[in-house]
Amino acid sequence: MRFLVNGGRPLRGSVDISGSKNAALPILAATLLSKEESVLTNVPDIRDIHKMLEIMEHLGSQFSFENNTIRIQTESIKTTEIPLGLVKTMRASILLVGPMLIRTGHIRIGFPGGCVLGKRPIDTHLDAFRALGTDITEEEEYIDFKLQSPQAGKVVLKEISVTATENILMLAAGIPGDTEIRLAAQEPHVADLCEYLKSCGVELSGEGTHVVKVKGTPAIHGAEHRIIADYLEVGTFAIAAAATQGDVTLQGIRMHDLDALWQKLEEMGVILDFGQSSVRVRGVKQMAPIAKLDTGIFPKFPTDLQAPFVVLLTQAHGVSKVFETLFEGRLNYLFELEKMGARFEFLNPHQAIILGPSELKGAPIASCDIRAGAGMVVAALMAEGETEISSINYIDRGYERLDEKLRHLGANIVRMQSEQDIEAQQRSLASFAAKEKSGVSSEVNR
Ligand code: EPU
Repeated sequence: MRFLVNGGRPLRGSVDISGSKNAALPILAATLLSKEESVLTNVPDIRDIHKMLEIMEHLGSQFSFENNTIRIQTESIKTTEIPLGLVKTMRASILLVGPMLIRTGHIRIGFPGGCVLGKRPIDTHLDAFRALGTDITEEEEYIDFKLQSPQAGKVVLKEISVTATENILMLAAGIPGDTEIRLAAQEPHVADLCEYLKSCGVELSGEGTHVVKVKGTPAIHGAEHRIIADYLEVGTFAIAAAATQGDVTLQGIRMHDLDALWQKLEEMGVILDFGQSSVRVRGVKQMAPIAKLDTGIFPKFPTDLQAPFVVLLTQAHGVSKVFETLFEGRLNYLFELEKMGARFEFLNPHQAIILGPSELKGAPIASCDIRAGAGMVVAALMAEGETEISSINYIDRGYERLDEKLRHLGANIVRMQSEQDIEAQQRSLASFAAKEKSGVSSEVNR
């Protein structure tokens, strides 16, 4: 599947923000901790959620998913083995290990895959599981976990890892006694998992900090929980609004999840007006460069917004420098951007210099991971002419109805299923462009 984008139109209007993928995935996994039903609302209807539900169905979960609400119950576990084929496209499947160990004491799972962002080991998860009494056998393509001698205690994570923190939180929640997780990740989605666990009867403190204390209990029950707004979607739309010199109001946001982004946007000259749970973003013609953009763990600038933001930096008047501190594969999209006319110097797999402003022109490009894909869409929206973005299955993993929401803001973006669709669409875009040039207005592709 592809997107065909005819760029150069400012985005205008208002958009509602969906629930967070990275909160919904661990919370879905955590529903396994209890036999009772949980009801999750504001769940984004995206590929990764469907994938997680598919794996959980394989384990024995029963669910319905309608209008962004999932009702899910896993009364009995059918199997403790998850085949490689089910997990190889989603790294977050590793999140099932903690809850499965609590429910059955055993899980054998294929090594989790996901977007290729460089080396993404799971040693932090493994060390933490061992610390709470898990025996682990690593095979070539599988890992076997057995909770031999569950013991609550102190766990100091090897890296401040988001999913390792979530996994160990879920394991600790079901092991009676006090567990202290140090060097815990404090991202808003980790805190949201803590909120869900608390609603399920787990005593917990320190959520949203680097030290989380959990009082484990065998009496975990089901709960109703609303998934927090996706701050990565907020950031993507804010950047797209600025990039197209648009005027967009984002509704349903949590302002402080994105302090680092707001700071950088204002430094560039973008105009921001905050409401109670909204922000109005107005782009400007003359944007200043950013001397130093370093990504980092929360609350620093999120690695997941680095690609869209760097696309914006291609329009700044001057030289910007980006340092992607987490993942060494996360600057590769620059070579796609180069096909559109972006100018940069690639210093090493973690650092690059962006030379702005550059005039982006439509070109065939590929989306190389979820967030780089969002960056490609931002580039296409501001480029002159037509851009065809392939491999949009990555984008669909993480963004709910991205094309539909953008069309609502006035973007000319369409989803192509087949080669014939693409040819037909290209003809229609050509006639649309001709009409626009001659002053005849049209609603095609709106
Ligand atoms: N790391 C290790 N060993 C581990 C785990 C991580 O060395 O066992 C390293 C990684 O290589 C990286 C750093 O620790 O340098 C942080 O990785 P982390 O484990 O925090 O990443 P993750 O938990 O696998 C989550 C998000 C990612 C997001 C990162 C960083 C979910 C499901 N995934 O991944 O989201 O990029 O945190 O914030 O929450 C995305 O949504 O597109 C995405 C990739």
